[in-house]
Amino acid sequence: MKFSTDAEKQTFDKLVKNLPGIVKDKCDGYDELYGYKLVSEGAGSEFYNKDVADALVFKLCKAYQFQYEDIMQHLIHILKWRKEFNPLSSAFQEVHDKDLQEIGFLTFLKENDPNTRAITWNLYGELLKKKELLNDLDKFIRYRIGLMERGLRLVDFTDESDNYMTQVHDYKGVSLWRMDPKMKACVKQVISIFQESYPELLYAKYFVNVPTVLGWVYDVIKKFVDPETRKKFVVLTDGNKLGQYLAGAPSKQYGGKNKKTLAELNMTDIRPTDYGLFMLEQLANVDLD
Ligand code: HEM
Repeated sequence: MKFSTDAEKQTFDKLVKNLPGIVKDKCDGYDELYGYKLVSEGAGSEFYNKDVADALVFKLCKAYQFQYEDIMQHLIHILKWRKEFNPLSSAFQEVHDKDLQEIGFLTFLKENDPNTRAITWNLYGELLKKKELLNDLDKFIRYRIGLMERGLRLVDFTDESDNYMTQVHDYKGVSLWRMDPKMKACVKQVISIFQESYPELLYAKYFVNVPTVLGWVYDVIKKFVDPETRKKFVVLTDGNKLGQYLAGAPSKQYGGKNKKTLAELNMTDIRPTDYGLFMLEQLANVDLD
C-alpha cells in the first residue's frame, strides 16, 4: 500500500485498530465486505486474510480521502446495507429471471490492460425490448447487484496495480423518446447503491452503441452521478470502437481481437469466497431458526 503522507498511514492504522469495535458496536457484528472478513476475531475467524482485509480498508481510505470520520460513517453504512440486503445471496443463491440473466455477462480478458480485465457487461438495449423486466424494481436491483458481486470475484484486491473493474453498457437497438418514470427510478436507485456501497472499485465504464440522438439520455442520467465517477465514462456511438480500449473484446460485436463471442467468454461458474459461503450458511441458519 502506497501512502502519500504519514497522516494517511496514521488514518489507515487507526481504522484497522478500531475496526473490531466499530463492527461490534455500530454494525451489529457484521464484518463481511465483498465476501471477505474484515476483522480477525469472531465467528469464521479461520477465513480472515489480513492482506485482503487491509487492501479493502485501504480502498475505503482512498475513496474518502483518508478522512477518518467520513470513512467510518461510510463503512458503517456499507456494512449495515450488506447485512440487510444480503448481496451474497443475490449473487450466489437466488435464481434470477432467465431474461435478466441473458442481458448480463462477466468476462476476464487477460489481454486487456490492468483494471480493465474483470468486466461486467450489461446489454440494456435488450432490456428495453422486454420493458416489463423493469416493472419489479426490487427484482431487477437484486439481479444487478448479484452481477456486480460475482464480478468482484474476478478482482484480486491484493494486487494494487490491478484491483479495479470495468463495466460496459451496450444500448444496441435502443430508441428512446422519453424516459419512463419506472426506468428513471430504477436507474437512479442502482446508481445510488453503486455510489454508496461499492466505492473505489470502478476503473472505467463504456457506454456503447449509443445513437447520437440519445445524447439527451446521457445528460439526464449523468446528473445522478458524482463528478469523480463521471470522469470514468466513455460514450461510443459505434460499438466496434470498443476494441480500441479493450483489446480482448469480442471481434465481431465490439471490434476487439477475441474471436470468441461474448456468450462464449461469459464466466458462469463463479463461486463465493470461503467466508462468503460461511456467511450464507449462517444467514440460512438464522432464517431457519
Ligand atoms: C446507468 C439502464 C439508456 C447512460 C444505468 C443503469 C441502468 C441503466 C439500470 C444503472 C447502473 C448500472 O446498471 O450499471 C438503461 C436502460 C436504457 C438506458 C434500460 C435504455 C435502453 C441509456 C442511454 C445512455 C445511458 C441511451 C446514454 C449514454 C447511462 C449512464 C449511467 C447509466 C451515464 C450511469 C452509470 C453509473 O453511474 O455507473 N442505465 N440505460 N443510459 N446509464 Fe443507462
